[in-house]
Amino acid sequence: MLDTLIAGARVVTPAGTTTCNIGIRDGRITWLGEDRPEAAEVIQAAGLIAMPGGIDSHVHISQPSGPGIEMADDFASATRAAVAGGNTTVLPFCLPEEGQTLRAAVAAYHEKAAGACLCDVSFHLIVKDTDPVTLGQDLPALIAAGHTSFKVFMTYQGLALSDREILEVMSVAKAQGALVMVHAENEDAIEFLRDKADREGHGDPVWHARTRPVPVEREATHRAITLAEIADVPLTIVHVSNAESLDEIRRGRARGAKVFAETCPQYVTLTADDLDRAGFEGAKYVCSPPPRGREDWDGIWAGIEQGGFELFSSDHCPFRFADRAGKDAPGARDSFRNIPNGIPGVETRLPILFSEGVSKGRISLERFAAITSTNHARLYGLADKGAIMVGKDADITLWDPALTRPIRQQDLHHGSDYTPWEGFEITGWPVRTILRGATVMLDGTPCGSPTGQHVERTAPETLL
Ligand code: URP
Ligand code: ZN
Ligand code: ZN
Ligand code: ZN
Repeated sequence: MLDTLIAGARVVTPAGTTTCNIGIRDGRITWLGEDRPEAAEVIQAAGLIAMPGGIDSHVHISQPSGPGIEMADDFASATRAAVAGGNTTVLPFCLPEEGQTLRAAVAAYHEKAAGACLCDVSFHLIVKDTDPVTLGQDLPALIAAGHTSFKVFMTYQGLALSDREILEVMSVAKAQGALVMVHAENEDAIEFLRDKADREGHGDPVWHARTRPVPVEREATHRAITLAEIADVPLTIVHVSNAESLDEIRRGRARGAKVFAETCPQYVTLTADDLDRAGFEGAKYVCSPPPRGREDWDGIWAGIEQGGFELFSSDHCPFRFADRAGKDAPGARDSFRNIPNGIPGVETRLPILFSEGVSKGRISLERFAAITSTNHARLYGLADKGAIMVGKDADITLWDPALTRPIRQQDLHHGSDYTPWEGFEITGWPVRTILRGATVMLDGTPCGSPTGQHVERTAPETLL
């Protein structure tokens, strides 16, 4: 006797898409087929598409964000938004506070997340300190405990590591079997351009984009791959915004480097012109790397369609507009430097890709499942997740491919007070999110108690 039978959906599996029934028992998928075994609950899903629950492997939640600025989401609101948007697992980054050890930071994140989450979570680390205790003790111990991926930054004051430091961190990843994620932008070049903008009196939000042009990202992408080749480790280049950087990744792969690549909705739907909106509205679109030009979208789509990108994530990094606009403090709007970087997107990532990708015929259902769920599970060691297969966790999202409505802030569940995609038309919405067999979102509304668990991970599986 099954607990639940999902009946009659088109089911997207790693072996292809087929109309069948999905049987669930004790939170796992135990049966797939055309027969209808007995079940305590039957979910009628004819006309719907069953996808593996979304895994968003790039989100920022409750992260320290500078003096007087608080991230708009805690674990409760971020995971409420995540399940509303069809996700069953998110991977936030654990960033130590000033003076805090990495180990203490991880313990604090576990505490913040415990009992608060509507979906499952697991933590990447951010390595910003390269002292002997961090690299010699904390990082190896945390990797051994299942935190098998971490991010290093080539930009942002206080976070950016030198090439030498990145090599030291990569050699820990090499010794311990972890995956390094790199934020690739050239900090010195950015500071040079920002100082020049300051001298010339350019403070508007659009100058955030103008001082982080494509070559800044392209050069750092090349350098990150080069460092990984020297250290002989795989790496993920996160949030790739343009085709020139993707070309560096292709060239690295052609040399034999193990490079994985991630892109995000903002790089196929927003532009630098959005940062130029009047009345400081442009601040709502400030993220790094910045959105580029419309002409850059095609190159990113080509990577999404043809396999250049393994991962499509949100880079959800939510702030409230008042925090971005300096809370009306005198002088706060004089410089784009004061705007915290990042935009909200965990709730809109999947609908945007479904609508722009699947509904518009750019990508198949199978490719959608791969870059929004399966590859995230394989790359980041979520062994029980990422596919509709017997034996996996019953993390399943039901999609109505015909449901059409725009994205509207008033319908969203994140902690931000705006969405960069206000009014963006979507065809194809998730209508039910199922986490380990239990419904956690129905018809757009999160439901149930916070049963999300922390997932310990295995070593990353190599995709290339
Ligand atoms: O602007 C962004 N992307 N903020 C989030 C932090 C990061 O760099 O991923
Ligand atoms: Zn980043
Ligand atoms: Zn990020
Ligand atoms: Zn842990």
